Amino acid sequence: MNYNKKTVKDVDVKGKKVLLRCDFNVPLAKDGSGVITDDKRIRAALPTIQYLLDQGAAVIACSHMGKPVASFDKWVQKQTEKGKDPATLTEEKWKKSLADLSLKPVAARLSELLGKSVTLAADVVGPDATAKAAALKGGEVLLLENTRFEKGETKNDPELAKKMAAMAEVYVSDAFGAVHRAHASTAGVAAYLPAVSGFLIQKELEVIGGALAAPKRPLVAILGGSKVSSKIGVINNLLELADTIIIGGGMAYTFSAAQGGKVGNSLLEEDWKDYANEMVKKAQAKGVKLLLPVDTVVADAFAPDANSQVVKSGEIPDGWEGLDIGPETVKLYCDAVADAGTVIWNGPMGVFEFDKFAVGTKAVAEALSKTSAITIIGGGDSAAAVQQLGYADKMTHISTGGGASLEFMEGKELPGVACLLDK
Ligand code: 3PG
Repeated sequence: MNYNKKTVKDVDVKGKKVLLRCDFNVPLAKDGSGVITDDKRIRAALPTIQYLLDQGAAVIACSHMGKPVASFDKWVQKQTEKGKDPATLTEEKWKKSLADLSLKPVAARLSELLGKSVTLAADVVGPDATAKAAALKGGEVLLLENTRFEKGETKNDPELAKKMAAMAEVYVSDAFGAVHRAHASTAGVAAYLPAVSGFLIQKELEVIGGALAAPKRPLVAILGGSKVSSKIGVINNLLELADTIIIGGGMAYTFSAAQGGKVGNSLLEEDWKDYANEMVKKAQAKGVKLLLPVDTVVADAFAPDANSQVVKSGEIPDGWEGLDIGPETVKLYCDAVADAGTVIWNGPMGVFEFDKFAVGTKAVAEALSKTSAITIIGGGDSAAAVQQLGYADKMTHISTGGGASLEFMEGKELPGVACLLDK
């Protein structure tokens, strides 16, 4: 696929102040220690940062982290909706919720990886950030605080975008994981500066875009995850492009129920049964092989140590729920992958967080690690599964974007890419 957006190499960044949007939304340890449990997204930004530094640019990096609520009143409202007693919701607790999403750990890790100091500003466009950005010299790196600490970020407020742009002379986006968001720092800012992409966005779009536009065939798409509703767009679009579509994970039970199967207590989206049937018909009409599970591992509770048994698809007894694909399905799916030219995988086959129900996901990951096909793993859960199971280095490409790669595979326009200068 020809990448048609300008990159850092197409503009003069020598000695310039560059605002660089990254996706440093990395997972942190649940104990509040600020330990980064997977720094892949920070590593993925290094080639662009290093290039800019080599050009003598002053790098003003920025990113969001998590979903902080930028106003106290809104936070109280959200917490109350979640069932918290409003009397216990103090301003102090709100500030702590923001502090937990500071980019401080990211600044420390980035500094280690670059082998040079990275200064963290105390705000995004406030007095500290503007003073530090103004004083920043070529070859130095400043990291702004979490962009979502600013109310205007997720609303794509032009005033915020203008303030961010005012700190720099060029805007570079390398935040592939956030390109599906039309926010002030991912899209709005591009209206006020020459806007180009970094190497990560270029690579993601070339690899995933190439696999969709001109795949080495057969193109096999493996789609899992819990809900049909969240995968509608991608199933629909891939039915136009793929030779085989494999369905696994919780969403398979909606397909099974739609065909009159018994699904017990399994995940079921009643409202999507008609859609599931429509997809089966569309696949038949287009000559696309749509593979559904033929057996399933069911459990008597949603728990890591639940009792389990294997039953045929559509024959799940009352009181049991499907948590993984069964052994016959594993064989069927692994065979389909074995002679593929390209495989795109998005979504686990079962509840892989529980060892007992990770067998199907593991088997598919292993099959992908052995095939000579081009293997592309959509971000989010499937990327985490491949990583956790130790197959990461066997895949052709593991995307750094969850929602972003999904929306790209749906064929949607990505606002964080559309706003960049064309070649
Ligand atoms: C992600 O983790 O997929 C990206 O960082 C986007 O985060 P968001 O879903 O909070 O916008």
